[in-house]
Amino acid sequence: MAVALLVAAGRGERLGAPGPKAFVVVAGRPLYAWSLDALRAAPSITDVVVATPDGRPVDGAVSVAGGASRSESVRNALAAAPAGDDVVLVHDAARPLLTPELVEACVARLAGFDAVVAAAPVTDTVKRAGAGRVVRETLDRAELWAVQTPQVFARAWLRRALDQPSEVLAAATDDAGLVEALGGRVGIVPAPRENLKVTTPLDLQVAERMLEDRARSGRTGG
Ligand code: C5P
Repeated sequence: MAVALLVAAGRGERLGAPGPKAFVVVAGRPLYAWSLDALRAAPSITDVVVATPDGRPVDGAVSVAGGASRSESVRNALAAAPAGDDVVLVHDAARPLLTPELVEACVARLAGFDAVVAAAPVTDTVKRAGAGRVVRETLDRAELWAVQTPQVFARAWLRRALDQPSEVLAAATDDAGLVEALGGRVGIVPAPRENLKVTTPLDLQVAERMLEDRARSGRTGG
C-alpha cells in the first residue's frame, strides 16, 4: 500500500494561462482532477495529499501549500502525509492521462529498488550540442528513456533525497534524480507516451482531445 503526493503548485508560465496550470479547466474539469481520480481508483493508494499554489482546498484529498520549486512542493506534501505506508508515489498534476493500471505497475515494481520511474522509450534521435549549437555527439537511442511520473519511492529514501538545501531541490527536474545522486538504485516501468505532460498550449489541446475521447468511450482514468 502507498500514499500518493500529487504536485499541483506550479505557475505554468509556459502555458500562458491566467491562473495556475493545474487549475486550468480541461475537458470540463480542472487539470489536477483527472489524475486525482486515477490515484483514488488505484487499489494500492490509501491516501492522497495534493500540493496547491496557496494551499487552496481540492475536492477529495488533503491539500497543502506548495513550495518555490517542484521538489519543495513534494517535500511539503510528504510532511503532511499520514504515517504508516512505507511506499510513497509522486505524480505531477500536469500529467492528466494517468491510469490506475500505471499506478499499480509502478508500485509493484518497487521491490528490489529504492525508487522506480514511469518512462517511455525515446523515439527521436537525441544529440548533445555545445556552444554555437554545434553537435558534439549523437546518443545511443537504445539506452534512452523519457522519464515521466508516477515515480515511486521507499519513504526513507524520498525523505533523505528531499532533506537538502533549496538550491539543490530547485536544480532537480525529478525526485528520482536526487535519489540517484545519493547512490540509490532506480528502476524503470515502461509507460505509454500518452501519459503526456501538459506544458504548452499544444499539449493542452492534445490532452483535451484524449480526455474527451476517454470520457466518451467510458475509459476514464478512474
Ligand atoms: O513546471 P513543471 O511543468 O515541470 O511542473 C511539474 C509539476 O510540478 C506540475 O504538476 C506543477 O504543478 C508542479 N509544481 C509544483 N510546485 C512548484 C513547481 C511545479 O507543485 N513550485
